[in-house]
Amino acid sequence: MSAPSLDRPTAPDEKALQDQFDATLAADHRIEPRDWMPEGYRKTLIRQVAQHAHSEIIGMQPEGDWLLAAPSLRRKAVLLAKVQDEAGHGLYLYSAAETLGADRADLTDKLIEGTQKYSSIFNYPTLTYADVGVIGWLVDGAAICNQVPLCRSSYGPYARAMIRVCKEESFHQRQGYELLMTMMRGTDEQRAMVQDAVDRWWWPSLMMFGPPDDDSPNTAQSMAWGIKRHTNDELRQRFVDMSVPQAEVLGVTLPDPELCYDAATGHHRFGQLDWDEFKRVIAGDGPMNAVRIARRRAARDDNAWVVEAATAYAEKHGA
Ligand SMILES: [Fe+2]
Ligand SMILES: [Fe+2]
Repeated sequence: MSAPSLDRPTAPDEKALQDQFDATLAADHRIEPRDWMPEGYRKTLIRQVAQHAHSEIIGMQPEGDWLLAAPSLRRKAVLLAKVQDEAGHGLYLYSAAETLGADRADLTDKLIEGTQKYSSIFNYPTLTYADVGVIGWLVDGAAICNQVPLCRSSYGPYARAMIRVCKEESFHQRQGYELLMTMMRGTDEQRAMVQDAVDRWWWPSLMMFGPPDDDSPNTAQSMAWGIKRHTNDELRQRFVDMSVPQAEVLGVTLPDPELCYDAATGHHRFGQLDWDEFKRVIAGDGPMNAVRIARRRAARDDNAWVVEAATAYAEKHGA
């Protein structure tokens, strides 16, 4: 047996690194960018964080469509602030993905080519101003349900980004609910607009939590790694339980005849989701998929000169 070399420390072997990683997770401490991590953990996180970042950026479009048609200066200021927040969320998340070694331009290309996904919810159109309120209430509400547990995600930069994101999401939900409350106190026509928007957005909002647990092959590993803290079905149930009393206060009907309170479990039972629709929309065949991606592609191509100029400037001054 030869003695270890004195001039070079022995690299810790894979097993020791894996043990250290496991111990960090077991102690509920965070994994940081410089720490060793298994390749599967890194890849899963890049996929999840990129998908989340893409959703924030694409999510600016359905509501952005109403910025020029907001019914008052106050509504326009509120909506503008909200849409800008979503851009900021995208930026934090792309930065978090970069700490894992991902390249932002590459992530954008993958979004446009369709090899990385974004939330199916943003492939539905916004038909009236009530949709802005319902998106705030239900879509941002579902995002909060999903994201609050991610503040305890095992990956440090992702968990820390979520803390600020969640504070802003809470403003988004309230502005939506306040808008709907105002419309519900208005005319019959306005109340009908709110009900119509609720009818169209309720089921797609429930799909935001992803496929049912028995059809979600990555959930177990993601939970073991502390990337996810609850299953899709647990979060969906939490969202339904949270939304039912809010719908009652608002005075709208949720479009599910099977929705009822189950005293035995303390939870609401609800009807079957249309998983074929979910799969179709995720695969690119929703009402607005093509429009969303075409705009993103145009933004990338039309602004390529800015990236080129900024890169040339940085190289010149770095030299
Ligand atoms: Fe957001
Ligand atoms: Fe939001």
